[in-house]
Amino acid sequence: MAFTPKPWPRKLRSHEWYGGDSRDNIYHRSWMKNQGLPADLFDGRPVIGICNTWSELTPCNAHLRDLAERVKHGIYEAGGLPVEFPVFSNGESSLRPTAMMYRNLAAMDVEEALRANPVDGVVLMVGCDKTTPALLMGACSVDIPAIVVSGGPMLNGWFRGERVGSGTHLWKMSEAVKAGEMTRADFLEAEAAMSRSPGSCNTMGTASTMASMAEALGMALSGNAAIPAVDSRRRMMAQLTGRRAVQMVKDDLKPSDVLTRDAFENAIRTNGAIGGSTNAVIHLLAIAGRIGVDLTLDDWDRLGRDVPTIVNLMPSGEYLMEEFFYAGGLPVVIKRLGEAGMLHRDALTVSGETAWEQVKDVKNWNEDVIRPVERALTAQGGIAVVKGNLAPNGAVLKPSAASPHLMRHRGRAVVFEDIDDYKAKIGDETLDIDETCIMVLKNCGPKGYPGMAEVGNMGLPPKVLRKGITDMIRISDARMSGTAYGTVVLHATPEAAQGGPLAIVQNGDMIELDVPNRRLHLDLPDAEIEQRLAAWSSPIETPKGGYARLFHEHVQGADTGADFDFLIGGRGKEVPRDSH
Ligand code: FES
Repeated sequence: MAFTPKPWPRKLRSHEWYGGDSRDNIYHRSWMKNQGLPADLFDGRPVIGICNTWSELTPCNAHLRDLAERVKHGIYEAGGLPVEFPVFSNGESSLRPTAMMYRNLAAMDVEEALRANPVDGVVLMVGCDKTTPALLMGACSVDIPAIVVSGGPMLNGWFRGERVGSGTHLWKMSEAVKAGEMTRADFLEAEAAMSRSPGSCNTMGTASTMASMAEALGMALSGNAAIPAVDSRRRMMAQLTGRRAVQMVKDDLKPSDVLTRDAFENAIRTNGAIGGSTNAVIHLLAIAGRIGVDLTLDDWDRLGRDVPTIVNLMPSGEYLMEEFFYAGGLPVVIKRLGEAGMLHRDALTVSGETAWEQVKDVKNWNEDVIRPVERALTAQGGIAVVKGNLAPNGAVLKPSAASPHLMRHRGRAVVFEDIDDYKAKIGDETLDIDETCIMVLKNCGPKGYPGMAEVGNMGLPPKVLRKGITDMIRISDARMSGTAYGTVVLHATPEAAQGGPLAIVQNGDMIELDVPNRRLHLDLPDAEIEQRLAAWSSPIETPKGGYARLFHEHVQGADTGADFDFLIGGRGKEVPRDSH
């Protein structure tokens, strides 16, 4: 896509604060000088915000303060003035009820901080799952030059000679303990082996997926996604990103120049090729909504349908992000898409180069990690979107993490009214369930949980596990961790708490899942469904106040990205007036 850089030098946005000799200009500069900043740093050079999600409560991002120093080096080298500031940090592993409930809060924080402050451009420092979409969403709504640098994944976990993947092995080992195949003592020993260095989850979970999405969208420098957090090249990437941010401001290269429809289509196809997380569906829809690209759930199905999953990483495959980096990382995958005619080669990126220019000369250094198409993990690796009377607005499933024999299946529903009901019943040996049944979980959508919990991959009943069965069909309005696996139908919309048909499924109803034909059907007469819906009332109470109330009243469905209705779209960078 053609982009014409603006002439430089010119007056920037920060000039309004720091540029003249009015009382207000002096006020703005003087207080900044209490940090020891020399006068010539206010000479009209680009002021680059470093929007940092560092937090010790977000362990995946706990190294970002250190990494920010490298970003600053880069900004100074390129002639800019760096100003680091914190924003709300969504730590997936600790936040209750869900980190997802706070994604929109973080996006609001970012948007308002960028607009209200004298920054000309921004480096978005992200890592843990929700931090990447939150910062991108906020930056899109302001639309000043913005570039992502990720914290990078943890090193491989190892336990007794085997790779241990973040999350993926937690779920596996937990099932093994329930099935009596692993002792609790061994499970506790594995705990530290899973997370042995700074960084985000080392599987192709949501954090790695969203880092890959940022790169595939063109919003990060090429190669950003896979460099391990502790590899020295991660620090180089941070420094180069700082340098690039300054030039982006000089050129006035904004998110709206990069995030075109072509960019989103490239990202959707990349997600199929990497076997990325289902969470990417929601986040990309939300980012597209902020930047004004009309992206739909159907685009995910249409564009991803024929993309083979070639990245052999957990949870779909065998390896971890460290090996993905050594094999060449995401640039190799994007090149492969370009060779297969599945890439908009001309899509502009933050580097100023096109998607194709950046990757055309890269090499694959390990064809077991990034496989040739003939040895793809799944021929059709994208996200499948199923629809029917059980999910009129759609539900999603990740074929690369599912069992082929369950892709077409009719089974008896075993219903859990909410996650507490599931927890109370699942271990009950008298529960009427076997592996042919379909587990249905309600009230775990955006409003229902609240925040749409990652509980869609419900663990199987112990009596089924003991038979050696490891997968059953599960259907819900919840999400699933990107590190999880199984034949799991997620994000059913409308959600149960809003009176979607999921709300009226009863034990013993027959359900048909037909992934090849994209069908999810509750086998009941229409009149019966209508009768049950008419008698239904929501079990969810409106929160009394605070952010929970705001969330409840304004969050949209998963099928459009679960953003707040009043946050969709852009609001620009203009501030009405100074207060002094
Ligand atoms: Fe933070 Fe996985 S829990 S990246």
